[in-house]
Amino acid sequence: MTHGRFISFEGGEGGGKSTQVRRLTEALEDKGIPCLATREPGGSPGAESIRELLVRGEIGRWDPMTETLLHFAARRDHVATVIEPALGEGTWVVCDRYTDSTIAYQGYGQGVDISIIEDMHRKTVGNLWPDATIVLDIAVFQGLDRIANRGNGRHRYEEMGIDFHERSREGFLEIAKRNGERCVVVDADRSADSVHDAVMTFIARRFGV
Ligand code: TMP
Repeated sequence: MTHGRFISFEGGEGGGKSTQVRRLTEALEDKGIPCLATREPGGSPGAESIRELLVRGEIGRWDPMTETLLHFAARRDHVATVIEPALGEGTWVVCDRYTDSTIAYQGYGQGVDISIIEDMHRKTVGNLWPDATIVLDIAVFQGLDRIANRGNGRHRYEEMGIDFHERSREGFLEIAKRNGERCVVVDADRSADSVHDAVMTFIARRFGV
């Protein structure tokens, strides 16, 4: 059995990640590739419980370091109980957010030292980085507008200020620039079909499927 591939979607709020995770997963399954769609924070029962602590409640309920530790607690459980077993069985894992989100949001957005975040990554999940990462990029005001029109309430991060979201967006673009062999930036300010086409072009080039 070959090891599965690990693909993550990243980017700010309202970029359409969950739609693209679903569309990519369906497209890979149509090609006969066993595939699992998952998300962070969350993706396993334990991590979904920790997610509730992160996305609900007052903006200031955690200091940035505590928040970072909670994301890594959730991530370790998700990796150990869901991601690694799936990859080991040859299933491809398509994940809505991973450690790049911690670097962009807690590092660039909330000021936690990025070398500490990278250290925590090594200590909690070792060397598990995605084989490919798609950053869906959209202007902050446009992404937040899309969420406002979604009408199912806003979570804790969506309530954080524009400046925080601008710093996080810069963070994602910087991460993509520094990891050019792993990451691609896709302009998310267009139809879901056209974003999906760009994603499939990248996946075909990257994995030959
Ligand atoms: P989402 O499911 O709507 O993407 O919401 C999850 C929120 O959690 C999102 O606003 C980004 C935030 N987040 C972090 O701040 N750090 C992380 O490491 C992850 C995975 C998510």
